[in-house]
Amino acid sequence: MSRTLLVTSALPYANGSIHLGHMVEHIQTDIWVRHQRMRGHVVYLICADDTHGTPVMLAAEAQGITPEQMIEKARAEHMEDFAGFHIQHDLYYSTHSPETRAFASEIYQRLKTAGLINIRPIEQLFDPVRGMFLPDRFIKGECPRCHARDQYGDSCEVCGASYAPTDLIHPVSAISGATPVRRTSEHHFFRLGACESFLKEWTRSGTIPPEAANKLDEWFDAGLSDWDISRDAPYFGFEIPGAPNKFFYVWLDAPIGYIGTFKKLADTQGLDFDAFWNPDSRVELYHFIGKDILYFHSLFWPAMLECAGFRTPTQLFVHGFLTVNGQKMSKSRGSFITAGNYLRHLDPEYLRYYYAAKLNSGMDDLDLNLEDFIARVNSDLVGKYVNIASRAAGFISKRFDGQLSPTLHPAAEALVERFRDRAESIAMLYDAREFGKALREIMELADGANQFIDSAKPWDMAKEPSLQEALQQVCTSALEMFRLLTLFLKPVLPVLAAKVEAFLDIPALDWSQATDDAALPGRRIRPYQHLITRIDPKQVEALVVVSKELTPPAPEPLPEPAHLLPVADTIGIDDFSKIDLRVARILAADTVPEADKLLRLTLDIGVEQRTVFAGIKHAYTPEQLVGRLTVMVANLSPRKMRFGESQGMVLAAGDGSGLYLLSPDSGATPGLRIK
Ligand code: MSP
Ligand code: ZN
Repeated sequence: MSRTLLVTSALPYANGSIHLGHMVEHIQTDIWVRHQRMRGHVVYLICADDTHGTPVMLAAEAQGITPEQMIEKARAEHMEDFAGFHIQHDLYYSTHSPETRAFASEIYQRLKTAGLINIRPIEQLFDPVRGMFLPDRFIKGECPRCHARDQYGDSCEVCGASYAPTDLIHPVSAISGATPVRRTSEHHFFRLGACESFLKEWTRSGTIPPEAANKLDEWFDAGLSDWDISRDAPYFGFEIPGAPNKFFYVWLDAPIGYIGTFKKLADTQGLDFDAFWNPDSRVELYHFIGKDILYFHSLFWPAMLECAGFRTPTQLFVHGFLTVNGQKMSKSRGSFITAGNYLRHLDPEYLRYYYAAKLNSGMDDLDLNLEDFIARVNSDLVGKYVNIASRAAGFISKRFDGQLSPTLHPAAEALVERFRDRAESIAMLYDAREFGKALREIMELADGANQFIDSAKPWDMAKEPSLQEALQQVCTSALEMFRLLTLFLKPVLPVLAAKVEAFLDIPALDWSQATDDAALPGRRIRPYQHLITRIDPKQVEALVVVSKELTPPAPEPLPEPAHLLPVADTIGIDDFSKIDLRVARILAADTVPEADKLLRLTLDIGVEQRTVFAGIKHAYTPEQLVGRLTVMVANLSPRKMRFGESQGMVLAAGDGSGLYLLSPDSGATPGLRIK
């Protein structure tokens, strides 16, 4: 029976590029969707950019554009990336849409009417310079447990402690560098606890992977606390109806973006919206997500839907994270590969194949090992699969003018039968998202096809005039096997499959044709065209190189608390003028073998030369210093040190983490006095 399915991938944030980690999810989703379509089901695949929140607001500001301009640019880029990887969305929309705004308001109102929204004041850290409340990730400070510096407001990367941002020692706003103050404001909360019995039942009804069940039990045991769904202005998002200057937290409207996006599609295509979203809907709803966002999709999302009178998801398909060469993606190793960079170097179907070979229905992480990637694609796709066509097609074109024999070769019949028999089990593996197992079965069949050609030896038959008919049958049989393999691989390799359909001159392959024994024999094929090239390891090397080069510079180090020391006691101009500050040129900078922090500077201050030992070795190499101008205190009393006398001091800002030597504009002459 034909089914109707609505499928989503998680909505990527608008403030970043699509990378190969995202592509795990989108390739997995797309393969599954293409498979379901080939089974004859009606499938709608939708996705959108997740556009709201503080990071988007600040990223836009940093680029000097409005958030609306930024998300528009991001969406265009993301759509290009997904199209590049042949992801077949029916609609790729945005959460910043009138549809999503309307559903966010409606769901909120319904929750409110049901008594599920609480409003109460909470105290948070507020940036007095920027005039905004700070999300945890925008506060840094000293860990209250292990005293590591420069830790985020929610947890310590050094000792693993979790805490409230108000517990941080010497907190600093990562936005302005100011010391945050505590401030109270009213927040809106969704009473998740009221949905506990519903959620316990829902999550145990086969909607969630069994591996996630333990995690869920932990969450239930810890108790479901109220969920803070509001944020104060300034915030890029939707204003809460009836609550001026309060906005929906991005995670409230993000999943509602699934509904808003579908609404847009329904309006465009004339689909019956209610048939998809009413509680008694018979449409199946599937969300593909990464394990990091399971909490949102298994608790908040179904609770919101249920309590607001919408249908809940049929199932969540949860995958693990991508590692590259066994490690987390890293900009410095060149393994943070964006979709755009990949597409500029390599065929998207290589990655689709490799990911498929490694994907299963579990939540384990998946490794993209670049050497294995090259080896696997070259040996399976080029060496095994395409090889079958290139071995058989030449004889058919050259000797039989493209004409296939009406029957298979008797020696091939059993094998072709085996291919057909496997079709159903391969389809079941796709359906269960066991793509790796499906591809192993398919490649085993490809091995069988190659063995058949090896033993039939068409190149020998070609020399025997009496064996021409048999030769035609052998090649026809090999191409029939190739046709079936193409059908089986089509969810993974849609473009390659389309080329094969054109070359075999057959209608678009779908699962119903697996058992059609008249699909190919007796037909005339087109001349064989080159189908796929081997990966040259140099292409992968080049990709790694650009992934390093195009890395944006590391963010400016955050200001340290010492910057924010209160201003010292007032002095008079007389006190200041006692200090003789001079422009100095650094003539030489030498390391001091006995002291690993110091450089010995030889300074020209016009009237004389000075030697100064400066603790700046961790920040500058001697080559960076020689020739440049700086500022020195020329009348500081000399200090005897173990390795010589220091005759003054150069001026630098810093407190141990960053260090910045002062310098006058170029053109200043050594010896000039600073006043
Ligand atoms: N915007 C939210 C999702 C909102 S859905 C209503 C978000 N965005 S994201 O851009 O960070 O991630 C989008 C999806 O990509 C998530 O499912 C996430 O798990 C997945 N991945 C992001 N990085 C990934 C890897 N490195 N590896 C595998 N999947 C990854 O979360
Ligand atoms: Zn710590």
